[in-house]
Amino acid sequence: MNHSLLTELDTILDLLTDYVEAGYRRQRPTAIAAARYDGAAPVALSAGDRAAELRELEQQVRCCTLCPLHQGRTHGVPGIGVLDPLVMVIGEGPGAEEDHKGEPFVGSAGRYLDKWLAAVELSRSSNVYITNIVKCRPPNNRDPLPSESQACAPYLARQIELVRPRAILSVGRVAAQLLLQKEDGIGKLRGRSWKYRDIPLVATYHPSAVLRNDQWRRPVWEDLKRLRELLDSSS
Ligand code: URA
Repeated sequence: MNHSLLTELDTILDLLTDYVEAGYRRQRPTAIAAARYDGAAPVALSAGDRAAELRELEQQVRCCTLCPLHQGRTHGVPGIGVLDPLVMVIGEGPGAEEDHKGEPFVGSAGRYLDKWLAAVELSRSSNVYITNIVKCRPPNNRDPLPSESQACAPYLARQIELVRPRAILSVGRVAAQLLLQKEDGIGKLRGRSWKYRDIPLVATYHPSAVLRNDQWRRPVWEDLKRLRELLDSSS
């Protein structure tokens, strides 16, 4: 059987599965990913084109039905901040306040995160973009399931390409493990710098965990200083 016939059969099978399981045609992560991200070197886009595509992606996130998390959401939470930021902050997933407002990190953890960022001259209004691994709130703030993170992964991969951060700050175990493809806890993953593709990445504790355990304040400060040094040495 030739390749194009196989691809067509595959598409028909996908459509049938959609109609049987969901009663409508679902968006497919691979379709979104393949449309613009196929693992090849990204096409050079102007800042204007990147901004337009990012707005389109954010719109897709708001009406996404790729995984069951959409059933419980008030708002999908794509991300917020500037293009070409110094830092992209990546958290785990929206909580209740984020779900309510459609913006990431707007609750108590978010206010604390803003203080961390300000301490190293960063802010979501001038030089940061903030997003999460999953864009819809997991029930009772549980960890996202692997299938949910996987369904959302093409959005994050494309956001990183479009936003083009100079560095990434991942907060919490879930984001660090997924971005670095490691199973170690955050205590092991923090304290050094990594690369996500070619982008320097610093992993630290989640602000909501530090609000509950202040023994992690000092390591977070060390991680933030590492991030700042990394930015200063690359400018
Ligand atoms: N925690 C996260 O990981 N992300 C948010 O957006 C809010 C809280």
